[in-house]
Amino acid sequence: MYALGIETSCDETAAAVLTDGFEVLSNVILSQDEVHAPYGGVVPELASRQHIKTIDAVVGEALARAGVELKAIDLFAVTQGPGLIGSLLVGLSFAKGLAYFFKKPLVGIDHLEGHVEAAFLENRDIGFPALALLVSGGHTSLYLLEKKLSYRLLGRTRDDAAGEALDKIAKFLGLGYPGGPLIEKLAAGGDRTAFAFSRPRIKDAPLDFSFSGLKTAALKHIRESGITKEHPRLADFLASFEEAVARPLVDNLARAVDEFGPKSLILCGGVARNTRLRARFRQFADRQKLPAFIPSPKMCTDNAAMVAALALEKRAAGIPMSVDLDLDAYPR
Ligand code: KG4
Ligand code: ZN
Repeated sequence: MYALGIETSCDETAAAVLTDGFEVLSNVILSQDEVHAPYGGVVPELASRQHIKTIDAVVGEALARAGVELKAIDLFAVTQGPGLIGSLLVGLSFAKGLAYFFKKPLVGIDHLEGHVEAAFLENRDIGFPALALLVSGGHTSLYLLEKKLSYRLLGRTRDDAAGEALDKIAKFLGLGYPGGPLIEKLAAGGDRTAFAFSRPRIKDAPLDFSFSGLKTAALKHIRESGITKEHPRLADFLASFEEAVARPLVDNLARAVDEFGPKSLILCGGVARNTRLRARFRQFADRQKLPAFIPSPKMCTDNAAMVAALALEKRAAGIPMSVDLDLDAYPR
């Protein structure tokens, strides 16, 4: 039995083929970074146009690499939201067409639940309850999973997502897009204690996040110390900022561990590719003597293997499935 996943929620066009044994036969990701780089961020209109241009080829490539014919697919899975509405509609319409033509079930997948699923796809033995920290360009959220397919939102960002804060500071300094990986590269060897950042606190919701204050503090440091792309202390500044972004993530996780006593910890989403954040997360888990599950870098980025995997989980759980042509995209 084969599932085809499709993901077009933001600026990656992705398709993947999985077996019902959760074997990833192909996982194709076409990034639009080059299209958006000149603007320093994703331009929604360009993103949807680009998805339209490439989705057919990306799905074809995923099938070819898997060695599976379209007519052999038993289940279609597609990201329904949250994301850019125009981008989502491209994947959703494409998947609806396939499901309708081949008369096979179509499953709508939540992008954030998909990111969490990436951890389960690579580790089939994660113990419950689990705490999952999702850190991406559009979202920063903390979930409690009492069991498979149950996601209780404990906290989320009140303003910017962690990745967004990294991207915006990179854009301000003219480093390029996407900012996260560029900051990581340029921060290498820098002194993470060189620039001070105070910890953001949200009084009434201690598990919520806020990154706009850090961004403002970063801009103040940039102005006061005259930080530029060529500045000799650029690495120190970026290492300090990266550390300041990682700190509240682990702080809130620590609070949630005290409150909920989980058996395992999950880190996922695009920013989970970050070496410093991965290290801080693992150090914390080790201190707590809890197993840490972090997907491989390719599975942290937006991809369609996580989308197909979650649809297969739902199928295995006995959730009814149909050729649902009424599925609607949701932006948030
Ligand atoms: O999950 P994702 O691929 O797309 C969204 O759903 O948002 O995450 C993209 C975000 C961007 O903000 C990007 O700068 C960040 O992940 N990112 C990183 C790294 N690689 C990607 N941030 C820090 N370090 C990295 N190595
Ligand atoms: Zn994502």
